[in-house]
Amino acid sequence: MIELGIMEGVLDVPQGKFKLQRLPYRHNDQLRAWDAADEYLLQHLFEQDSLKTDRKVLILNDSFGALGCALHKFSPTVISDSWLSQHATKQNLTANNITEHSIELRDSLDWTTQSFNIVLIKVPKTLAYFEQQLIHLQKILTADTVVIAAGMVKAMPASVWKLMERYVGITKPSLAKKKARLIFATVDLSLEQVKSPYPVYYQLENTDYNICNHANVFSRDSLDIGSRFLLQYLPKNIQAKDIVDLGCGNGVVGLMLAQNHDSANLHFVDESYMAVASAKETFQRAFEGRSAEYYVGDGLTKFKAESMDLIVCNPPFHQQNTIGNQIALSMFKQSYRVLKKAGELRVIGNRHLGYHLDLKKEFGQCKEVASNKKFVIWQAIKQN
Ligand SMILES: C[S@@+](CC[C@H](N)C(=O)[O-])C[C@H]1O[C@@H](n2cnc3c(N)ncnc32)[C@H](O)[C@@H]1O
Repeated sequence: MIELGIMEGVLDVPQGKFKLQRLPYRHNDQLRAWDAADEYLLQHLFEQDSLKTDRKVLILNDSFGALGCALHKFSPTVISDSWLSQHATKQNLTANNITEHSIELRDSLDWTTQSFNIVLIKVPKTLAYFEQQLIHLQKILTADTVVIAAGMVKAMPASVWKLMERYVGITKPSLAKKKARLIFATVDLSLEQVKSPYPVYYQLENTDYNICNHANVFSRDSLDIGSRFLLQYLPKNIQAKDIVDLGCGNGVVGLMLAQNHDSANLHFVDESYMAVASAKETFQRAFEGRSAEYYVGDGLTKFKAESMDLIVCNPPFHQQNTIGNQIALSMFKQSYRVLKKAGELRVIGNRHLGYHLDLKKEFGQCKEVASNKKFVIWQAIKQN
């Protein structure tokens, strides 16, 4: 059951009032589990009376279940790449006494082949992922499918419109309201049906390894500069039986840890389905026959206490469109719990993020391993 905090929010829309909570849960969270674009979209659907109960509704990228909860009477299909979004959606349905089965949750790699009357898209942060979703959509659109994209104006550059025009059809904008906007697209079935270019691959510099990247993966076209720096300072040949690549993305960090630790078990963890699928393919291509563990979930929540020897992490600095260090802090806490005594957490962060202060709070101490103008790599050992 969801733990509703003091800052619990209530989404008040024509479809009803819904108590909504973000995930990961934070006591006194000041951030709402929905945005003005969700409100605008729900208001619009109500005013247009475009939703009759027999309408089939597809929702893409619902942040924490605001759209799914408000539209549950239409038994929508909801597709997302985020485990946290999906989990929040389930919890928010339950908190509002709505059965989980009233919506069909699918992950980003499990597209439906059904067609829909209405497709509602919250524009995601990664445009490549948006493009890939539009490519999938092309296959299931019919001439009278209503397609509406919604987002905050600042998160909808001209490229969003261009992509919609390229894959769906002519677009028309709404007026902006509370800095949110809707884009209506008229389906044009004569547009060229495009084959998805994803996953894409690049060869990891100075190696023969091919890195697999699905559309929503961090730094999918080339090695990120922070990851490159981290790769230079990974622990080598230490006595580690179980090693975690926490927030693994395409798995590049775990891959190099595996190379330096022949007999270790590698554990790849990410909250993005596409990331974990990419890491799995990356690892299996590089080490044919070597097994590893793969988890989609919120960091280390499913891991046993005192079970891992080494955790390496390049933490996220945003969740969807919100910037902040809350996920990193929760990863540090989780790592402390999951590490064996004398186990190590190695973390890279932008210098200005000051992770050492948080690591000291959690581990009692931490040591700088390396730094350059932009990044610092920290080592925190769980004391005996
Ligand atoms: C900065 S990227 C690092 C990716 C990869 N390790 C690298 O260095 O290229 C951070 C990763 O953390 C993942 N992430 C975000 N929140 C998470 C959570 N709560 N649990 C697990 N992974 C999470 C993101 O999906 C993203 O892949």
